[in-house]
Amino acid sequence: VPDPLPGFPDPPAIGTRGDLPRAVKTYLCARGGTPCSNGEIQRWLGTSSQSAINYAAKQLSQGDPKIQRAGDSPISWVFDGPPTHAGVPSFAPASAVSPSVKSPSDEEKAARARAAEQDEMRRRKIPLVTTVNRPDGAVYRTRQLADMPDVVALRALREGHLPVILDGPPGAGKTALVHAAFGDDVIMIAGDGDTNVSDFIGEYTTSEDRQYIWVKGPLVEAMETGKVLFIDDATLISPRVLACLYPAMEVPHEIVVKQHRREIVKPADSFYCIAGHNPGAPGAVLSEALQSRFRVPVHVPTEYDLAKAAGVDDRAVRVARNLATKMLHGEAGWAHQFRELLAYQEVRTLLGERAAVSLLVGQAPAEERDVVSAVIKNVFGIENVGPLELGRPV
Ligand SMILES: Nc1ncnc2c1ncn2[C@@H]1O[C@H](COP(=O)(O)OP(=O)(O)OP(=O)(O)O)[C@@H](O)[C@H]1O
Ligand SMILES: [Mg+2]
Repeated sequence: VPDPLPGFPDPPAIGTRGDLPRAVKTYLCARGGTPCSNGEIQRWLGTSSQSAINYAAKQLSQGDPKIQRAGDSPISWVFDGPPTHAGVPSFAPASAVSPSVKSPSDEEKAARARAAEQDEMRRRKIPLVTTVNRPDGAVYRTRQLADMPDVVALRALREGHLPVILDGPPGAGKTALVHAAFGDDVIMIAGDGDTNVSDFIGEYTTSEDRQYIWVKGPLVEAMETGKVLFIDDATLISPRVLACLYPAMEVPHEIVVKQHRREIVKPADSFYCIAGHNPGAPGAVLSEALQSRFRVPVHVPTEYDLAKAAGVDDRAVRVARNLATKMLHGEAGWAHQFRELLAYQEVRTLLGERAAVSLLVGQAPAEERDVVSAVIKNVFGIENVGPLELGRPV
Protein backbone atom coordinates (compact mmCIF):
# COMPACT_ATOMS: atom_id res chain seq x y z
CA VAL A 1 0.00 0.00 0.00
CA PRO A 2 1.76 3.16 -1.10
CA ASP A 3 2.20 5.65 1.70
CA PRO A 4 4.65 8.07 0.13
CA LEU A 5 6.09 11.10 1.83
CA PRO A 6 4.85 14.48 0.68
CA GLY A 7 6.73 15.38 -2.48
CA PHE A 8 7.71 11.82 -3.27
CA PRO A 9 6.85 11.15 -6.94
CA ASP A 10 3.35 9.72 -7.41
CA PRO A 11 3.30 6.38 -9.18
CA PRO A 12 2.42 7.02 -12.84
CA ALA A 13 -0.17 5.01 -14.77
CA ILE A 14 1.45 2.30 -16.87
CA GLY A 15 -0.18 2.44 -20.29
CA THR A 16 2.17 2.19 -23.20
CA ARG A 17 5.57 0.74 -23.98
CA GLY A 18 8.24 2.68 -22.16
CA ASP A 19 6.02 3.72 -19.24
CA LEU A 20 7.30 0.99 -16.96
CA PRO A 21 11.06 1.58 -17.50
CA ARG A 22 10.43 5.32 -17.02
CA ALA A 23 8.55 4.67 -13.79
CA VAL A 24 11.25 2.33 -12.47
CA LYS A 25 13.87 4.95 -13.23
CA THR A 26 11.84 7.66 -11.48
CA TYR A 27 11.67 5.53 -8.37
CA LEU A 28 15.35 4.53 -8.39
CA CYS A 29 16.43 8.15 -8.91
CA ALA A 30 14.15 9.33 -6.09
CA ARG A 31 15.85 6.82 -3.81
CA GLY A 32 19.30 7.48 -5.34
CA GLY A 33 22.10 5.51 -3.62
CA THR A 34 19.67 3.17 -1.83
CA PRO A 35 19.15 -0.35 -3.19
CA CYS A 36 15.49 -0.98 -3.99
CA SER A 37 13.94 -4.41 -4.47
CA ASN A 38 11.53 -5.28 -7.28
CA GLY A 39 8.87 -5.82 -4.61
CA GLU A 40 9.37 -2.35 -3.19
CA ILE A 41 9.01 -0.77 -6.64
CA GLN A 42 5.93 -2.87 -7.23
CA ARG A 43 4.32 -1.65 -4.00
CA TRP A 44 4.99 1.95 -5.01
CA LEU A 45 3.49 1.37 -8.45
CA GLY A 46 0.54 -0.57 -7.12
CA THR A 47 0.47 -2.63 -10.38
CA SER A 48 2.79 -4.58 -12.73
CA SER A 49 4.40 -7.89 -11.95
CA GLN A 50 7.79 -8.06 -10.24
CA SER A 51 9.18 -9.91 -13.23
CA ALA A 52 8.07 -7.08 -15.52
CA ILE A 53 9.73 -4.58 -13.18
CA ASN A 54 12.85 -6.72 -13.10
CA TYR A 55 12.91 -6.83 -16.89
CA ALA A 56 12.48 -3.06 -17.12
CA ALA A 57 15.26 -2.45 -14.57
CA LYS A 58 17.56 -4.84 -16.39
CA GLN A 59 16.99 -3.03 -19.66
CA LEU A 60 17.63 0.31 -17.96
CA SER A 61 20.88 -1.00 -16.51
CA GLN A 62 22.02 -2.02 -19.99
CA GLY A 63 21.52 1.48 -21.32
CA ASP A 64 22.46 3.57 -18.31
CA PRO A 65 25.63 2.81 -16.31
CA LYS A 66 24.23 4.67 -13.31
CA ILE A 67 21.52 2.03 -12.88
CA GLN A 68 22.98 -1.14 -11.48
CA ARG A 69 21.93 -4.39 -9.97
CA ALA A 70 22.50 -4.13 -6.23
CA GLY A 71 21.58 -7.50 -4.81
CA ASP A 72 20.25 -10.96 -5.54
CA SER A 73 17.95 -11.96 -2.76
CA PRO A 74 15.70 -10.19 -3.08
CA ILE A 75 16.76 -8.85 -6.49
CA SER A 76 17.37 -5.15 -6.08
CA TRP A 77 18.54 -2.21 -8.12
CA VAL A 78 20.23 1.07 -7.32
CA PHE A 79 20.69 4.44 -8.98
CA ASP A 80 24.30 5.53 -8.51
CA GLY A 81 23.67 9.21 -7.82
CA PRO A 82 22.17 11.58 -5.28
CA PRO A 83 18.51 10.92 -4.44
CA THR A 84 16.07 13.32 -6.05
CA HIS A 85 13.97 13.06 -2.90
CA ALA A 86 15.49 13.31 0.55
CA GLY A 87 12.91 11.27 2.43
CA VAL A 88 12.52 7.53 2.47
CA PRO A 89 8.94 6.56 1.73
CA SER A 90 7.45 3.82 3.82
CA PHE A 91 5.62 1.09 2.02
CA ALA A 92 4.00 -1.47 4.19
CA PRO A 93 5.12 -4.87 2.88
CA ALA A 94 2.19 -6.51 1.15
CA SER A 95 2.06 -9.28 3.76
CA ALA A 96 1.95 -6.79 6.64
CA VAL A 97 -1.19 -5.06 5.41
CA SER A 98 -3.91 -5.55 7.95
CA PRO A 99 -6.64 -7.56 6.27
CA SER A 100 -9.31 -5.38 7.88
CA VAL A 101 -8.01 -2.29 6.05
CA LYS A 102 -9.07 -2.98 2.51
CA SER A 103 -7.22 -0.87 -0.02
CA PRO A 104 -9.39 0.67 -2.71
CA SER A 105 -9.57 -1.53 -5.79
CA ASP A 106 -8.27 -0.21 -9.08
CA GLU A 107 -11.86 0.28 -10.16
CA GLU A 108 -12.71 2.35 -7.10
CA LYS A 109 -9.59 4.42 -7.63
CA ALA A 110 -10.49 4.95 -11.29
CA ALA A 111 -14.07 5.92 -10.35
CA ARG A 112 -12.78 8.44 -7.82
CA ALA A 113 -10.30 9.92 -10.27
CA ARG A 114 -13.08 10.19 -12.84
CA ALA A 115 -15.39 11.99 -10.40
CA ALA A 116 -12.59 14.44 -9.55
CA GLU A 117 -11.94 15.08 -13.25
CA GLN A 118 -15.63 15.69 -13.86
CA ASP A 119 -15.78 18.16 -10.95
CA GLU A 120 -12.85 20.00 -12.44
CA MET A 121 -14.60 20.18 -15.83
CA ARG A 122 -17.74 21.58 -14.21
CA ARG A 123 -15.62 24.16 -12.42
CA ARG A 124 -14.03 25.18 -15.72
CA LYS A 125 -17.50 25.22 -17.35
CA ILE A 126 -16.45 22.64 -19.93
CA PRO A 127 -19.50 20.77 -21.29
CA LEU A 128 -19.54 17.44 -19.48
CA VAL A 129 -20.35 15.20 -22.42
CA THR A 130 -20.03 11.52 -21.55
CA THR A 131 -21.89 9.92 -24.47
CA VAL A 132 -22.76 11.04 -27.98
CA ASN A 133 -25.15 9.42 -30.46
CA ARG A 134 -23.36 8.92 -33.76
CA PRO A 135 -25.18 9.34 -37.06
CA ASP A 136 -25.30 5.53 -37.46
CA GLY A 137 -27.20 5.32 -34.17
CA ALA A 138 -24.34 3.81 -32.16
CA VAL A 139 -23.43 5.36 -28.84
CA TYR A 140 -19.96 6.85 -28.48
CA ARG A 141 -18.46 7.08 -25.00
CA THR A 142 -16.22 10.09 -24.78
CA ARG A 143 -12.62 9.90 -23.56
CA GLN A 144 -10.37 12.48 -21.98
CA LEU A 145 -8.39 14.72 -24.28
CA ALA A 146 -6.54 17.73 -22.88
CA ASP A 147 -8.60 17.47 -19.67
CA MET A 148 -11.92 17.66 -21.48
CA PRO A 149 -14.20 15.30 -23.37
CA ASP A 150 -12.52 14.37 -26.67
CA VAL A 151 -15.46 15.58 -28.79
CA VAL A 152 -15.40 18.97 -27.07
CA ALA A 153 -11.66 19.30 -27.68
CA LEU A 154 -12.01 18.40 -31.37
CA ARG A 155 -14.86 20.88 -31.84
CA ALA A 156 -12.70 23.59 -30.27
CA LEU A 157 -9.83 22.74 -32.62
CA ARG A 158 -12.23 22.99 -35.56
CA GLU A 159 -13.31 26.45 -34.39
CA GLY A 160 -9.64 27.40 -34.25
CA HIS A 161 -8.97 25.91 -37.72
CA LEU A 162 -6.25 23.64 -36.36
CA PRO A 163 -6.22 20.38 -38.33
CA VAL A 164 -5.79 17.21 -36.28
CA ILE A 165 -4.23 13.91 -37.29
CA LEU A 166 -5.33 10.94 -35.20
CA ASP A 167 -3.09 7.91 -35.02
CA GLY A 168 -3.65 4.59 -33.34
CA PRO A 169 -3.99 0.86 -33.83
CA PRO A 170 -6.92 -0.60 -35.77
CA GLY A 171 -10.16 -0.51 -33.84
CA ALA A 172 -9.02 1.95 -31.19
CA GLY A 173 -11.77 4.44 -32.07
CA LYS A 174 -10.36 7.03 -34.50
CA THR A 175 -13.23 6.87 -36.97
CA ALA A 176 -15.79 6.62 -34.18
CA LEU A 177 -14.40 9.76 -32.54
CA VAL A 178 -14.62 11.86 -35.71
CA HIS A 179 -18.22 10.83 -36.33
CA ALA A 180 -19.10 11.45 -32.70
CA ALA A 181 -17.51 14.90 -32.71
CA PHE A 182 -18.88 16.16 -36.01
CA GLY A 183 -21.93 13.98 -36.74
CA ASP A 184 -23.62 14.70 -40.07
CA ASP A 185 -21.01 17.32 -40.89
CA VAL A 186 -18.47 14.64 -41.80
CA ILE A 187 -17.57 13.88 -45.40
CA MET A 188 -15.17 10.98 -45.42
CA ILE A 189 -12.51 9.79 -47.82
CA ALA A 190 -11.29 6.27 -46.99
CA GLY A 191 -7.69 6.33 -48.16
CA ASP A 192 -5.80 3.50 -49.82
CA GLY A 193 -3.00 3.08 -52.33
CA ASP A 194 -5.41 3.70 -55.24
CA THR A 195 -6.89 6.95 -53.96
CA ASN A 196 -6.23 9.61 -56.58
CA VAL A 197 -6.72 13.32 -57.10
CA SER A 198 -10.18 12.88 -58.64
CA ASP A 199 -11.30 11.15 -55.42
CA PHE A 200 -10.69 14.52 -53.73
CA ILE A 201 -11.49 17.09 -56.40
CA GLY A 202 -14.08 15.42 -58.62
CA GLU A 203 -14.28 14.17 -62.18
CA TYR A 204 -16.21 14.22 -65.41
CA THR A 205 -18.60 11.39 -65.93
CA THR A 206 -21.38 10.60 -68.37
CA SER A 207 -24.93 11.32 -67.32
CA GLU A 208 -27.96 9.19 -68.23
CA ASP A 209 -28.52 11.26 -71.37
CA ARG A 210 -24.90 10.62 -72.38
CA GLN A 211 -23.73 14.14 -71.54
CA TYR A 212 -20.40 14.76 -69.94
CA ILE A 213 -21.06 16.26 -66.53
CA TRP A 214 -18.73 17.41 -63.79
CA VAL A 215 -19.23 15.71 -60.40
CA LYS A 216 -17.67 17.51 -57.47
CA GLY A 217 -15.39 15.52 -55.20
CA PRO A 218 -15.59 15.45 -51.41
CA LEU A 219 -12.92 18.14 -50.96
CA VAL A 220 -14.81 20.67 -53.10
CA GLU A 221 -18.11 19.67 -51.51
CA ALA A 222 -16.74 20.07 -47.96
CA MET A 223 -15.12 23.42 -48.80
CA GLU A 224 -18.29 24.86 -50.34
CA THR A 225 -20.64 23.61 -47.65
CA GLY A 226 -18.31 24.22 -44.71
CA LYS A 227 -18.21 20.59 -43.65
CA VAL A 228 -15.52 18.43 -42.09
CA LEU A 229 -13.37 16.47 -44.55
CA PHE A 230 -12.19 13.36 -42.76
CA ILE A 231 -9.33 11.65 -44.56
CA ASP A 232 -9.19 8.22 -43.01
CA ASP A 233 -6.08 6.09 -43.43
CA ALA A 234 -4.38 9.18 -44.84
CA THR A 235 -0.91 7.65 -44.77
CA LEU A 236 -1.95 5.01 -47.31
CA ILE A 237 -2.61 7.75 -49.87
CA SER A 238 0.31 8.72 -52.10
CA PRO A 239 1.89 11.99 -50.92
CA ARG A 240 1.56 13.35 -54.47
CA VAL A 241 -2.20 12.86 -54.34
CA LEU A 242 -2.53 14.36 -50.86
CA ALA A 243 -0.79 17.48 -52.11
CA CYS A 244 -4.05 18.50 -53.87
CA LEU A 245 -5.51 19.13 -50.44
CA TYR A 246 -2.84 21.41 -49.04
CA PRO A 247 -3.77 24.66 -50.82
CA ALA A 248 -7.19 24.41 -49.12
CA MET A 249 -5.46 24.37 -45.75
CA GLU A 250 -3.12 27.29 -46.39
CA VAL A 251 -3.64 31.01 -46.77
CA PRO A 252 -5.25 32.22 -49.05
CA HIS A 253 -7.32 29.06 -48.57
CA GLU A 254 -8.43 28.35 -52.05
CA ILE A 255 -7.95 25.69 -54.64
CA VAL A 256 -7.96 25.96 -58.39
CA VAL A 257 -9.88 23.12 -59.96
CA LYS A 258 -7.77 22.70 -63.05
CA GLN A 259 -9.86 19.76 -64.17
CA HIS A 260 -13.01 21.89 -64.29
CA ARG A 261 -12.66 25.25 -66.06
CA ARG A 262 -9.95 26.30 -63.59
CA GLU A 263 -12.71 27.11 -61.16
CA ILE A 264 -11.53 28.73 -57.92
CA VAL A 265 -13.07 27.25 -54.77
CA LYS A 266 -12.82 29.10 -51.47
CA PRO A 267 -13.78 27.30 -48.27
CA ALA A 268 -16.68 28.36 -46.05
CA ASP A 269 -15.48 29.36 -42.60
CA SER A 270 -16.55 26.14 -40.90
CA PHE A 271 -14.63 23.94 -43.39
CA TYR A 272 -12.21 21.71 -41.53
CA CYS A 273 -9.82 18.85 -42.30
CA ILE A 274 -9.03 15.99 -39.99
CA ALA A 275 -7.06 12.85 -40.78
CA GLY A 276 -6.66 9.42 -39.26
CA HIS A 277 -4.00 6.78 -39.73
CA ASN A 278 -2.48 3.65 -38.33
CA PRO A 279 1.31 3.97 -38.36
CA GLY A 280 1.69 0.18 -38.27
CA ALA A 281 -0.33 -0.45 -41.44
CA PRO A 282 1.68 -1.96 -44.30
CA GLY A 283 2.56 0.76 -46.79
CA ALA A 284 1.76 3.67 -44.45
CA VAL A 285 3.91 6.75 -45.16
CA LEU A 286 3.65 9.76 -42.88
CA SER A 287 5.21 12.39 -45.12
CA GLU A 288 6.67 15.56 -43.68
CA ALA A 289 4.20 17.54 -45.75
CA LEU A 290 1.26 15.74 -44.15
CA GLN A 291 2.71 16.06 -40.69
CA SER A 292 3.29 19.78 -41.04
CA ARG A 293 -0.22 20.53 -42.40
CA PHE A 294 -2.06 18.49 -39.79
CA ARG A 295 -0.67 20.47 -36.96
CA VAL A 296 -2.14 18.67 -33.96
CA PRO A 297 -1.21 14.99 -33.73
CA VAL A 298 -3.40 13.06 -31.29
CA HIS A 299 -2.70 9.49 -30.29
CA VAL A 300 -5.69 7.15 -29.90
CA PRO A 301 -4.70 4.07 -27.91
CA THR A 302 -7.10 1.25 -27.12
CA GLU A 303 -8.97 1.87 -23.87
CA TYR A 304 -10.03 -1.45 -22.43
CA ASP A 305 -12.32 0.14 -19.86
CA LEU A 306 -14.49 1.21 -22.79
CA ALA A 307 -15.00 -2.40 -23.76
CA LYS A 308 -16.19 -3.13 -20.25
CA ALA A 309 -18.49 -0.14 -20.35
CA ALA A 310 -19.84 -1.43 -23.67
CA GLY A 311 -20.84 -4.64 -21.92
CA VAL A 312 -18.02 -6.94 -23.05
CA ASP A 313 -17.45 -9.92 -20.74
CA ASP A 314 -14.89 -8.93 -18.16
CA ARG A 315 -12.81 -12.06 -18.77
CA ALA A 316 -12.36 -11.31 -22.47
CA VAL A 317 -11.25 -7.80 -21.56
CA ARG A 318 -8.79 -9.33 -19.10
CA VAL A 319 -7.34 -11.56 -21.81
CA ALA A 320 -6.80 -8.52 -24.05
CA ARG A 321 -5.30 -6.41 -21.28
CA ASN A 322 -3.02 -9.23 -20.27
CA LEU A 323 -1.76 -9.59 -23.85
CA ALA A 324 -1.33 -5.82 -24.15
CA THR A 325 0.86 -5.87 -21.03
CA LYS A 326 2.84 -8.74 -22.46
CA MET A 327 3.34 -6.68 -25.61
CA LEU A 328 4.83 -3.85 -23.57
CA HIS A 329 7.37 -6.31 -22.22
CA GLY A 330 8.07 -7.94 -25.54
CA GLU A 331 6.43 -11.22 -24.48
CA ALA A 332 3.65 -11.06 -27.07
CA GLY A 333 3.35 -9.41 -30.44
CA TRP A 334 -0.39 -8.86 -30.63
CA ALA A 335 -3.39 -8.05 -28.44
CA HIS A 336 -7.13 -7.80 -29.09
CA GLN A 337 -8.36 -4.27 -29.68
CA PHE A 338 -11.80 -2.84 -29.07
CA ARG A 339 -13.28 -4.10 -32.34
CA GLU A 340 -12.26 -7.72 -31.64
CA LEU A 341 -13.73 -7.56 -28.16
CA LEU A 342 -17.05 -6.28 -29.49
CA ALA A 343 -17.09 -9.18 -31.99
CA TYR A 344 -16.37 -11.59 -29.12
CA GLN A 345 -19.40 -10.31 -27.28
CA GLU A 346 -21.67 -10.58 -30.32
CA VAL A 347 -20.53 -14.13 -31.09
CA ARG A 348 -21.01 -15.06 -27.46
CA THR A 349 -24.61 -13.93 -27.67
CA LEU A 350 -25.20 -15.72 -30.98
CA LEU A 351 -23.16 -18.93 -30.64
CA GLY A 352 -22.25 -19.28 -26.98
CA GLU A 353 -19.17 -18.85 -24.85
CA ARG A 354 -17.03 -21.69 -26.19
CA ALA A 355 -17.35 -20.37 -29.75
CA ALA A 356 -16.59 -16.84 -28.60
CA VAL A 357 -13.46 -17.99 -26.80
CA SER A 358 -12.38 -19.77 -29.99
CA LEU A 359 -12.93 -16.51 -31.79
CA LEU A 360 -10.48 -14.80 -29.44
CA VAL A 361 -7.85 -17.29 -30.62
CA GLY A 362 -8.82 -17.09 -34.29
CA GLN A 363 -8.63 -13.30 -34.32
CA ALA A 364 -4.93 -13.45 -33.50
CA PRO A 365 -2.27 -13.83 -36.19
CA ALA A 366 -1.27 -17.51 -36.49
CA GLU A 367 2.11 -17.02 -34.82
CA GLU A 368 0.52 -15.44 -31.74
CA ARG A 369 -2.14 -18.07 -31.10
CA ASP A 370 -0.09 -20.09 -28.60
CA VAL A 371 0.40 -17.05 -26.37
CA VAL A 372 -3.27 -16.16 -26.69
CA SER A 373 -4.33 -19.73 -25.79
CA ALA A 374 -2.07 -19.67 -22.73
CA VAL A 375 -3.63 -16.44 -21.51
CA ILE A 376 -7.12 -17.81 -22.19
CA LYS A 377 -6.27 -20.88 -20.13
CA ASN A 378 -5.31 -18.61 -17.24
CA VAL A 379 -8.34 -16.38 -17.43
CA PHE A 380 -11.12 -18.72 -18.57
CA GLY A 381 -9.63 -21.98 -17.31
CA ILE A 382 -10.28 -23.53 -20.75
CA GLU A 383 -7.44 -25.53 -22.27
CA ASN A 384 -6.42 -26.16 -25.88
CA VAL A 385 -8.74 -23.67 -27.50
CA GLY A 386 -8.25 -23.38 -31.24
CA PRO A 387 -9.82 -21.02 -33.73
CA LEU A 388 -13.32 -21.64 -35.06
CA GLU A 389 -13.30 -24.24 -37.81
CA LEU A 390 -15.60 -26.72 -39.52
CA GLY A 391 -15.40 -30.31 -38.39
CA ARG A 392 -16.92 -33.71 -39.13
CA PRO A 393 -20.26 -34.13 -40.91
CA VAL A 394 -23.13 -33.46 -38.52
N1 LIG B 1 -15.34 5.61 -27.42
C1 LIG B 1 -16.09 4.68 -28.00
N2 LIG B 1 -17.37 4.46 -27.60
C2 LIG B 1 -18.11 3.50 -28.18
N3 LIG B 1 -17.70 2.72 -29.18
C3 LIG B 1 -16.44 2.90 -29.64
C4 LIG B 1 -15.59 3.87 -29.07
N4 LIG B 1 -14.39 3.82 -29.70
C5 LIG B 1 -14.51 2.84 -30.62
N5 LIG B 1 -15.73 2.30 -30.59
C6 LIG B 1 -16.20 1.17 -31.42
O1 LIG B 1 -15.09 0.32 -31.64
C7 LIG B 1 -15.05 -0.13 -32.95
C8 LIG B 1 -13.75 0.30 -33.60
O2 LIG B 1 -13.70 1.72 -33.66
P1 LIG B 1 -13.22 2.52 -34.97
O3 LIG B 1 -13.76 1.89 -36.19
O4 LIG B 1 -13.50 3.95 -34.73
O5 LIG B 1 -11.66 2.25 -34.87
P2 LIG B 1 -10.49 2.88 -35.77
O6 LIG B 1 -9.47 3.36 -34.82
O7 LIG B 1 -11.05 3.83 -36.74
O8 LIG B 1 -9.98 1.58 -36.48
P3 LIG B 1 -9.31 1.41 -37.96
O9 LIG B 1 -7.90 1.91 -37.84
O10 LIG B 1 -9.34 -0.07 -38.17
O11 LIG B 1 -10.14 2.17 -38.92
C9 LIG B 1 -16.28 0.45 -33.65
O12 LIG B 1 -17.31 -0.51 -33.59
C10 LIG B 1 -16.63 1.64 -32.80
O13 LIG B 1 -18.00 1.90 -32.85
MG1 LIG C 1 -11.15 3.77 -38.83
